[in-house]
Amino acid sequence: MKIAVFSTRPYDREFLDHANEAAGGRHAFSWYEARLNANTANLARGHDCVCAFVNDQLGAEVLEILAGQGTRLIALRSAGFNNVDLEAARRLGLSIGRVPAYSPDAIAEHAVALILSLNRKIHKAYARVREGNFALEGLLGFDLKGKVAGVIGTGRIGINVARILKGFGCEVLASDPFETPELTQIGGRYVPREELLARCDIISLHCPLTPDTHHLIGREAIRTMKPGVMLINTSRGAVMDARAVIAGLKSGQVGYVGLDVYEEEEDLFFEDLSEQVIRDDVFVRLMTFPNVLITGHQGFFTREAMTAIAGTTLANISAFEETGTPLHPVPVERRG
Ligand code: NAI
Repeated sequence: MKIAVFSTRPYDREFLDHANEAAGGRHAFSWYEARLNANTANLARGHDCVCAFVNDQLGAEVLEILAGQGTRLIALRSAGFNNVDLEAARRLGLSIGRVPAYSPDAIAEHAVALILSLNRKIHKAYARVREGNFALEGLLGFDLKGKVAGVIGTGRIGINVARILKGFGCEVLASDPFETPELTQIGGRYVPREELLARCDIISLHCPLTPDTHHLIGREAIRTMKPGVMLINTSRGAVMDARAVIAGLKSGQVGYVGLDVYEEEEDLFFEDLSEQVIRDDVFVRLMTFPNVLITGHQGFFTREAMTAIAGTTLANISAFEETGTPLHPVPVERRG
């Protein structure tokens, strides 16, 4: 199939090329660095398939342009499809494929990397040592062993975080409307969310963004937490209210924050903005705290996860070519 790949970075090209070679080189790619939107959609003219990522725009206007130019399949390189107008896709007869799961270990391990780095101040120590400053003042950490760690959402990623933290000797508490016996098997315990918030030294978020979890970590929740708590978010930015977190950091109620996601990340992440002025004042304020560590949505970025994403994306495309349906279709009849 002829595939127009949007938001292409060199690493996307490397992994998709490799997956295509493994599939016998049956597909032909056109690589576009540009994000997909109404201005760039005409680049896909004559391509049966458009391959898109999380910040590409797939609203009705863009889908109409794509369908009018001959595109029949949208192959998402992500699990989420909140950027696709499914009603428009249905109306236009477009199929949507996605990558439902890829290396939950990658994201779990990144969450733990944030915990360890924040605690032992590795980011500060790295800069200090490079400047010949070997003083230890300001680098004091704590033992993870014996601390209470809370996991909100014990799905594919959260259960792995629980397992790793149990390995460090933490007491692991969890909250999830759908409990899995795996948690008890690894020595964790489900408790009401209120108890988790009140008792934990570390709280890590691994639930999806839903109306119920929107701003789950807000002013009220932070007020009930243990003073000096460490908050980790590798799920979706809007699960945390960034303004409430800033207030908590200023008062000292929140002791550490590790983020891989941010509510307004679409305008920031995956781009080199080092020569530009960042206009998001909330984000810039967050970056000023010495006890905040932010990464730009890189939790998924391991060789294993990228291999899985590329492989599943091409499997979707090949299946569509053979049967008219991607391997992992997004149901376009209704949202959800
Ligand atoms: P999953 O669907 O396997 O697990 C999510 C869990 O959250 C489920 O057990 C569900 O019952 C639970 N949940 C739902 N509502 C809840 C609530 N109100 N309170 C507590 N738990 C609740 O999803 P998975 O694969 O573990 O992903 C978790 C999150 O990680 C998602 O938000 C996903 O978008 C994010 N993610 C982040 C990546 C990154 O690079 N930072 C990459 C991939 C996923």
